[in-house]
Amino acid sequence: MSRLAIRGVGKVFPGVRRDAPPTQALQPVSLDIADNDFIAVLGPSGCGKSTLLRLVAGLEEPSSGEILLDDAPIRGPGADRGVVFQSYTLFPWLTVRENICFGLREKRTPRSEQRETSDRFIARMGLRGFEDHYPKQLSGGMQQRVAIARALANDPKILLLDEPFGALDNQTRLLMQELLLGIWEQARKTVLFVTHDIDEAIFMANRVVVFSARPGRIKAEVPTELPHPRPYTIKTSPEFMALKARLTEEIRIEALAAQR
Ligand SMILES: Nc1ncnc2c1ncn2[C@@H]1O[C@H](COP(=O)(O)OP(=O)(O)O)[C@@H](O)[C@H]1O
Ligand SMILES: [Mg+2]
Repeated sequence: MSRLAIRGVGKVFPGVRRDAPPTQALQPVSLDIADNDFIAVLGPSGCGKSTLLRLVAGLEEPSSGEILLDDAPIRGPGADRGVVFQSYTLFPWLTVRENICFGLREKRTPRSEQRETSDRFIARMGLRGFEDHYPKQLSGGMQQRVAIARALANDPKILLLDEPFGALDNQTRLLMQELLLGIWEQARKTVLFVTHDIDEAIFMANRVVVFSARPGRIKAEVPTELPHPRPYTIKTSPEFMALKARLTEEIRIEALAAQR
């Protein structure tokens, strides 16, 4: 079981200088994510998406409310949550395999099991032949595949992704979406995926949570209800187009509000 309950969670950052006003990054939000669900958080830049994800990751403390993972309050970072950020966060001094095994080594998993697990993810993520490469020897797309493999190898309860494909070129990005969705369709992890890309949110998630402009609050929750498996061609289906039209309108209003 991997159920996430976000209960009235808000975040206020203190001003950078003593005389600067505090920043309310997130208004209290409540969100329930069921076991094996794939939720996308969609919203304009600066609305608090990353803040929400960092709170769930335990990298920030909420100013109000609480976050429960399987009924246990989150008090800090933990191996039960796998996190992937937009910018490449691999350990530059470790090889692809060593990066993927990082969490397993921390947990003192037997060597043979580390090997088996890393082999599985190296194959799944199309990284064969690059096991001994260092991150700087890889393309951006490959680095993110390693980052996802590293997160999944730990077998976390929930996968937290913060615009993981945001720095990739469009073609690579589309392939990465298919890869991650394929993994979810096989392995059914609980996923919280942050993005500002409408197509990406609809294509991948089962429910799209639209955030308002800063300070973020939940403006709409839109179930996508597209069947699985989802081929990339679904992006041109009438159902997809209708969802896109609706979400585009919601986001446009918020982007306009954010400009003011
Ligand atoms: N550590 C921090 N200290 C002060 N302000 C912050 C901090 N982190 C984020 N913020 C502010 O909180 C707001 C939301 O940021 P963020 O969660 O990164 O938005 P998003 O990911 O949706 O673009 C922004 O105004 C940002 O400047
Ligand atoms: Mg962000």
